[in-house]
Amino acid sequence: MANNAGIIGMGHAYPSGILTNADLEKIVETSDEWITSRTGIKQRHKAADDEYTSQFGSLAAKQAVERAGIDVSELDLIVCATTTPDQIMPSTGALIQADIGAVNAAGMDVFAACSGFLYGLTMVESMIRTGQIRYALVVGAEILTKYVDYTDRGTCVIFGDGAGAAVLGPVEEGKGILATKIRSDGRYAEQLYSPGGGTRLGTTHQTIDDGAHFFKMKGNELFKIAVRSMADISAEMLEKAGYKVEDVDLVIPHQA
Ligand SMILES: CC(C)(COP(=O)(O)OP(=O)(O)OC[C@H]1O[C@@H](n2cnc3c(N)ncnc32)[C@H](O)[C@@H]1OP(=O)(O)O)[C@@H](O)C(=O)NCCC(=O)NCCS
Repeated sequence: MANNAGIIGMGHAYPSGILTNADLEKIVETSDEWITSRTGIKQRHKAADDEYTSQFGSLAAKQAVERAGIDVSELDLIVCATTTPDQIMPSTGALIQADIGAVNAAGMDVFAACSGFLYGLTMVESMIRTGQIRYALVVGAEILTKYVDYTDRGTCVIFGDGAGAAVLGPVEEGKGILATKIRSDGRYAEQLYSPGGGTRLGTTHQTIDDGAHFFKMKGNELFKIAVRSMADISAEMLEKAGYKVEDVDLVIPHQA
């Protein structure tokens, strides 16, 4: 019989370093008022040079497992959603698996930027529902500030670092995750991208000098598409789950 999957424990972690709007005012032409009125952000956490993604992913993961009340050996799968992995291989999911001692779990990464955690959640939900796995950990972990161009005021005010984790497992019928859907539109690739460092441009002195590894964003256009898509897919999922807008008590969107 199919199981519903639900979140049974959550955790989070972030670097202790903080970059405030006042700090950014000293680096680029911006103001606390501009940043706050458009994004609501007052400060963001920023990793030190010797800090990296799996450290925070593991801390968040350990907290989530503890709160779920399961033993770490019961995890069958760890999916780490990240676009800023420790290194190209092995996956950050595998590094977290070793770090937390999840000896019976597979570890892997999902590479879907801001949507990554939801992509991971959707995959894991269906694997639990169909009985392929019992307990899984989905970790969203990013050290984005290492790819931020601190001369570009259009991007440097938004991105910060941190990790969140959720343990998923079987739950009673009618509870847990009721409906999910993932969707992409690769035609908008250049609205937020980092051209350097991959197989297309590679990593050369030239790409480094050009800052090709930094994030480039068309914030205004992206904002419109993101908000429209989020609203459309949310309405679709409400209908699929058999609820109406009036039934919803809390919406937690992506922050930017
Ligand atoms: C980034 C974002 C806050 C910018 O707000 P916006 O109102 O769209 O701003 P625009 O890019 O249209 O720029 C408006 C003006 O502010 C300026 N500006 C941009 N960043 C600025 C900053 N940090 N401080 C002051 N002025 C800034 C621009 O240069 C522009 O000036 P101009 O009119 O003289 O050319 C907004 O577009 C956004 O939230 N986008 C979505 C980001 C997102 O979701 N990213 C995905 C994952 S993180």
